[in-house]
Amino acid sequence: MTDDSSIKNQEERIVSALTKEGEVIADVSVRPRQLSEYIGQHRVKDNLVISIQAALQRAEPLDHTLIYGPPGLGKTTMAHILATEMGVSIKSTSGPAIERAGDMVALLTQLRKFDVLFIDEIHRLPRIVEEILYPAMEDFFVSWVVDKGLKARSMNLSIQPFTLVGATTRYGMVSAPLRDRFGSVHRLDFYDEQSMHTIVSRSAKILNIDASEEGSAEIARRSRGTPRIANRLLRRTRDYAQVVTKSGINHDVALAALNKLAVDNIGLDDIDRQVLNCIILKFGGGPVGLDTVAASINEESDTIEDVYEPFLLQLGFLERTPRGRVATPRAYEHLGIEYDKFKQKNMF
Ligand code: ADE
Repeated sequence: MTDDSSIKNQEERIVSALTKEGEVIADVSVRPRQLSEYIGQHRVKDNLVISIQAALQRAEPLDHTLIYGPPGLGKTTMAHILATEMGVSIKSTSGPAIERAGDMVALLTQLRKFDVLFIDEIHRLPRIVEEILYPAMEDFFVSWVVDKGLKARSMNLSIQPFTLVGATTRYGMVSAPLRDRFGSVHRLDFYDEQSMHTIVSRSAKILNIDASEEGSAEIARRSRGTPRIANRLLRRTRDYAQVVTKSGINHDVALAALNKLAVDNIGLDDIDRQVLNCIILKFGGGPVGLDTVAASINEESDTIEDVYEPFLLQLGFLERTPRGRVATPRAYEHLGIEYDKFKQKNMF
């Protein structure tokens, strides 16, 4: 749990951040900076505490760490926390941002002893770049080829021992050789309601938002177990309270604001409902291919797969089958469609 002094520190950071760049920086500032401030994900935290202590005691870098799970659950936050807890600097980049082997060599050779190199969306690293990482991760040296044809030479350079922290929403798309080189792998799960409530209350306190327990609880309940969504809904509810009701955030205000944002009582938004309605109403409940669903609601397949489906799967509203996506009776019930009647009508 957060104590008052760390809240005070956070507040000071936010005030200076706000004067610089407004809400974008403030958004970053509600993130926990230390493991002790990080709410939920107990299994992951417990294991990390041990790894960090062990590495510090041995005066070694932390083992390379892969963190995976749906977007918005705190993978990037965790990478920054790991660096803070180890007392080292962090350099951040992402898979699609590194196109050439030379870019990766440049990054690796700039690292200082025990630094964290954070690569978001690590599953999107080009293969040629990934291959630079293998000896770097295993033996702390880089090896690359300069020139072409007869003049081609291989260059080897040792680098400082470092920790690679990789994050991905697609564990299955991280290549086996890369996956195997991580000493620890952690999966972040959707947060339970109690943790979400604590996260919303903590953010409200840091951002100086007047929110009652019931108001915070309603925002937490509708945030689909995802802190990033909770923090966003908290801010939008603050806007509503400021402009429409000119009050603090109590339960009624939270309900009204969230209804206006078309976030329903279990946190589904317009796109979630479009996905389910499309599968049920256009394709008789499925099975239907992801690309077909995506085309018919005008969304990217990857966005549906990475951002929307994980929560619908977790709710048990959707099944992935070899023949495509299928909506479950629970999804029909949530949308107010009678499953048996619908199925009878749609049989041919
Ligand atoms: N803000 C976003 N994620 C958080 C977490 N897990 N704990 C505390 N605050 C958060």
